Amino acid sequence: MFWDGRAVLVTGGASFIGSHLSEALVRRGAAVRVIDNLSTGRRSYLDQHIRDGDIEFVQADLLDAEAVAAAVRGIDTVFHLAADHGGRGYVDLHQAACASNLALDGMLLPRMQERGGWQGRLRLLRLRISESPAARPD
Ligand SMILES: NC(=O)c1ccc[n+]([C@@H]2O[C@H](COP(=O)([O-])OP(=O)(O)OC[C@H]3O[C@@H](n4cnc5c(N)ncnc54)[C@H](O)[C@@H]3O)[C@@H](O)[C@H]2O)c1
Repeated sequence: MFWDGRAVLVTGGASFIGSHLSEALVRRGAAVRVIDNLSTGRRSYLDQHIRDGDIEFVQADLLDAEAVAAAVRGIDTVFHLAADHGGRGYVDLHQAACASNLALDGMLLPRMQERGGWQGRLRLLRLRISESPAARPD
């Protein structure tokens, strides 16, 4: 199976969607590491898997350069979900907050490039803010 034995980093993995993604990856045999600052995410979503040793949980902010460098170490694939995106209408009313997501990308992508780039062995998969209902017109 594709994910069996793969080392996967899920940024924002303590979110509702991120925790389900992380669980699905564990079920498929991946070695999952989650980095999340718990600003909106919940460690409790992952508690059982952390206890069982299926998921390595790192509580850190993606703006922390050392934490990001450590988080991508040994990783094959990154699902980049960490973001400030809010709900419907949030993008219109909180533009500066949403723009801060570019800074998160800016912290992560260079570290991944050092590991071979997202077109090489290390792949980047991201749920982008443009895919969020918050970004769609009513
Ligand atoms: N909820 C939706 O309807 C929806 C739809 C499409 C895509 N998405 C995307 O899925 C992802 C998860 O969204 P969600 O709705 O489950 O919950 P969410 O908004 O809580 O997810 C964001 C996660 O990133 C973490 N985070 C935020 N800033 C961080 C930082 N600086 N460093 C480390 N971690 C940080 C938060 O603690 C949280 O766990 C987001 O990327 C979102 O854009 C969501």
